[in-house]
Amino acid sequence: MNEIKFYSGESIPLELHKVRIVQKLHLVPIERRLEALQEGGFNTFRLNTKDVFLDMLTDSGTNAMSDNQLAAMMQADDAYAGSQSFFRLQKAVEDVLDKKYYLPVHQGRAAENILSNAYVRKGNLVPMNYHFTTAMAHITQYGGKIAELLYDEAYVINSSHPFKGNMNIEKLEEIIKIHGAKNIPFIRMEASTNLIGGQPFSIQNLRDVRAIADKYNIRLVLDASLLGENAFLVLQREEEFRESNMGEVMKIMTGLADIVYFSARKLSSSRGGGICTNNLDIYRELEALVPLFEGFLTYGGISVREIEAMAVGLYETLDETMISQSPSFIAYLVNALDAKGVPMIKPAGVLGAHVDAMQVCDHISQKEYPAGALAAALFLISGIRGMERGSISNQRDEYGNETYADMELLRLAVPRRVFTLSQIKYVEDRMTWLYENRKLIGGLRFVYEPPVLRFFMGGLEPVSDWPQKLIARFKEDFGESL
Ligand code: F0G
Repeated sequence: MNEIKFYSGESIPLELHKVRIVQKLHLVPIERRLEALQEGGFNTFRLNTKDVFLDMLTDSGTNAMSDNQLAAMMQADDAYAGSQSFFRLQKAVEDVLDKKYYLPVHQGRAAENILSNAYVRKGNLVPMNYHFTTAMAHITQYGGKIAELLYDEAYVINSSHPFKGNMNIEKLEEIIKIHGAKNIPFIRMEASTNLIGGQPFSIQNLRDVRAIADKYNIRLVLDASLLGENAFLVLQREEEFRESNMGEVMKIMTGLADIVYFSARKLSSSRGGGICTNNLDIYRELEALVPLFEGFLTYGGISVREIEAMAVGLYETLDETMISQSPSFIAYLVNALDAKGVPMIKPAGVLGAHVDAMQVCDHISQKEYPAGALAAALFLISGIRGMERGSISNQRDEYGNETYADMELLRLAVPRRVFTLSQIKYVEDRMTWLYENRKLIGGLRFVYEPPVLRFFMGGLEPVSDWPQKLIARFKEDFGESL
């Protein structure tokens, strides 16, 4: 990618797009932000966006759409069966992901449901580089278990390892020998491994996984929700691919997997999702489940307008200047906060900047959810909504015991082409202030805990009056400023 240099020598990411449609934002007073937290059970998922200033919850369905995506939505062909929109999408899947057979589903987890329904049986084990919440929930729902096989360096917060998402090949083979290939319905590789801080795997690692899958005749499934970003980091970090382009790298990755599935909410800045393969037998095994759970095979629960946006969005993932915008803003934010001493996941990954709540809140035990507490505290003092990616996002084990997360992270998502650099600087400023006042943050406890995916709708409360103390400190420094 051509880097644009500033005469002044300053190194800042430059937007290669212009803003043509805007949405007004509101920064409500800190007292209202406390009420909003109380109404939402101190869970940022349950906030109403009218109270949110910068929404850094996720990039899922929140990436800015392009003019061409919006234009394509106007030519949607409304038909229950045989829609022209579907055939345009099918062609995009073949052109970009290099897979002939495509099954539409309404979003990523619907693909996980179908794959788990088709292949996971009680007692099965699914090895993966790392779990994603919904993937794990579906596998366990069908009686399976997961094995996470990252190398130790993946858990090192302050690292310079370029590929923390790599799967531990030795452990993979060991686990296959112990459990038997017939008990392993598929191996799952997640591009830009979400829950460890948006960290990529290398193509060499994927090739090694493929070799083991071939040796033991096990299917290899690629979660391609963040494939574009993983490809971008391969171009940046893997020597062999320095001279390649996005399209080539993405095809190499999808070509190594038997089944590719994705959330289009991430991959193509639209809504929807999909499962694709070049294997007709696999296609036939999965085909019948789409009308059962999703809708007819030419829409799969996705609106035809979104199908059009998805087709255009898929082609746009080939544009390095589009894909690079979010990772370069993330790198800017991570480096700026790191320079202020805030413990960040390094190297900077994709999807968002990840703050290490275990270190920031080292005075809060995992039992009182440091990452959830940090997410609530940041919202309180800034109106910035991040997402807890720690023990609250974990599920209890089969006996109902808490399982504490390997990492307690606050994720500050940077959706594609949504924020300006001054907004990112505001995040840097408030997060730095909060870090300097971190000892005022206290823990949380559940008051309402749903049995499945509890982090979405769960309700918590602070274990003391720490939010009020934090507000008092904020007022000392900022007066009546919002
Ligand atoms: N796989 C990965 C790697 C994901 O990041 C997600 C969603 C899914 C599957 C499920 O897709 O939401 O369309 O059903 N990640 C969102 C996030 C929710 O905020 O990181 P979905």
